[in-house]
Amino acid sequence: MKIEKVGVVGAGLMGSGIAEVSAKSGFDVIVREIDDASADRGRARIETSMNRAVEKEKLTADDRDAALGRIRFTTEVDELADRDLVIEAIVENLEAKNELFGRLDELCGEQTVFASNTSSLTITDMAAATNRPDRVVGLHFFNPVPVMKLVEVVRTIATSDETFGAAFDFARAVGKVPIAAKDNSGFVVNLLLVPYMLDAIRQLERGVASIEDMDAGMVLGCGYPMGPFTLCDFVGNDTTLRIAEIMFEEYREQRYAPPPLLRRMVAMGRHGRKAGRGFYDYSGDAPVALPV
Ligand code: CAA
Ligand code: NAD
Repeated sequence: MKIEKVGVVGAGLMGSGIAEVSAKSGFDVIVREIDDASADRGRARIETSMNRAVEKEKLTADDRDAALGRIRFTTEVDELADRDLVIEAIVENLEAKNELFGRLDELCGEQTVFASNTSSLTITDMAAATNRPDRVVGLHFFNPVPVMKLVEVVRTIATSDETFGAAFDFARAVGKVPIAAKDNSGFVVNLLLVPYMLDAIRQLERGVASIEDMDAGMVLGCGYPMGPFTLCDFVGNDTTLRIAEIMFEEYREQRYAPPPLLRRMVAMGRHGRKAGRGFYDYSGDAPVALPV
C-alpha cells in the first residue's frame, strides 16, 4: 500500500495544516473546499504559515515554493478519484462526513484509504457508511498542525492491519509521532482535554474569576501553553460545541455536557479566533476579553 497522492477535504484550521505538512514532506496534495472563497482562505492560511517558517529560517524559500507547488485546490470532489489517501477535515457532523465518504467510495479506486480527522465521532460510524470498512482509519491531528507533534491513529474492529500500518507510516512521514488509539469517542486526548475546557466555561458561568485571570492561572500556575479560554477560542467554539454534543450523546456523562454559555457564544457567532471574536476580541494588537 504505497501512499504518494494525498487528498484533503476541507481547508479550515485543520485541513490547511494537514495539506501543509503533507506537501512539505513531499506528497502530492489536492485540497477540496466547498467554494472558491473558502479555498482562497485555506491557501492564504498555508502561505502565511510557510512564510512564517521562512522568516524564522526553519524553511528555505525554495522549499516553501516547492511545497506550495505540490498543493492544488479544487471545488470538485471528482478530482480526488486518483488519490491513494483521502483525509477529511470538514465540519464535525456525521451526516456531512458520511455523505462525503459515500461519494468518495463511488469515485476512488479500490485501494484508496479513507481517513477522518474527527475530534469526537467514531471512525466506525463513518466506515459503516462505505463499502470499504477495512480501508477506513482515523488520523487525528492537533491544532496547530504544523507545530503539534501528535497524531492519534485510530483503528476500528474492521480496519485492516495493512491500512493501519499505512496510516501509521504516513503520520511518521509527515514528521509526526503517532500513537495507536481505539475507536471510542474522543480517542485519548479529547477524552481528557474536552472536560477540562467545558469545566472552565462552567466555572466562568459560576463567576469564580474573570476570563483573563482563569487563563493566567493555568498558564502561570501550571505551565500550560495557553489558558482554557484562549484554547477554546483557538480550537473554535462552534467546533467545541459540536464535540461536546457528540461526546455527551455518546457517554451521557455530565462532564461532556455543553455548558449553556458555550451555546450562547456560538449563537452570537463568537466562534473564536478564526471569527475574530470568541471569549476574546482579536481585532486589536492584543486579545481583549469580551463580556459574557
Ligand atoms: N501555524 C503554524 N505555526 C505556528 C502557528 C500556526 N497557527 N502558531 C504558532 N506557530 C509556531 C510559531 O511559528 C513558532 O515556531 P518556532 O518555534 O519554530 O519559532 C511556534 O509555533 C511557537 O509560536 P509562538 O512563539 O508564536 O507562540 P507560542 O509560544 O505562544 O505557541 C502555540 C503557540 C504552539 C499554539 C502554543 O500556544 C500551544 O502549544 N498552545 C496549545 C495548543 C493546543 O493545546 N493544541 C491542541 C488543541 S485540541 C486539538 O487539537 C484536538 C481537537 O480535536 C480539538
Ligand atoms: P473549520 O471550521 O476551521 O473548517 C472546516 C472547513 O471544511 C471549512 O472551511 C468548510 O468550508 C469546509 N467544508 C465543509 N464541508 C465541506 C465539504 N463537504 N467538502 C469540502 N470542504 C468542506 O474546522 P476545523 O477546526 O478545521 O475542523 C475540521 C475537523 O477537524 C472537524 O472534524 C474537527 O472536529 C476536527 N479537529 C479540529 C481541531 C481544532 O482544534 N479545531 C483539532 C483536531 C481535529
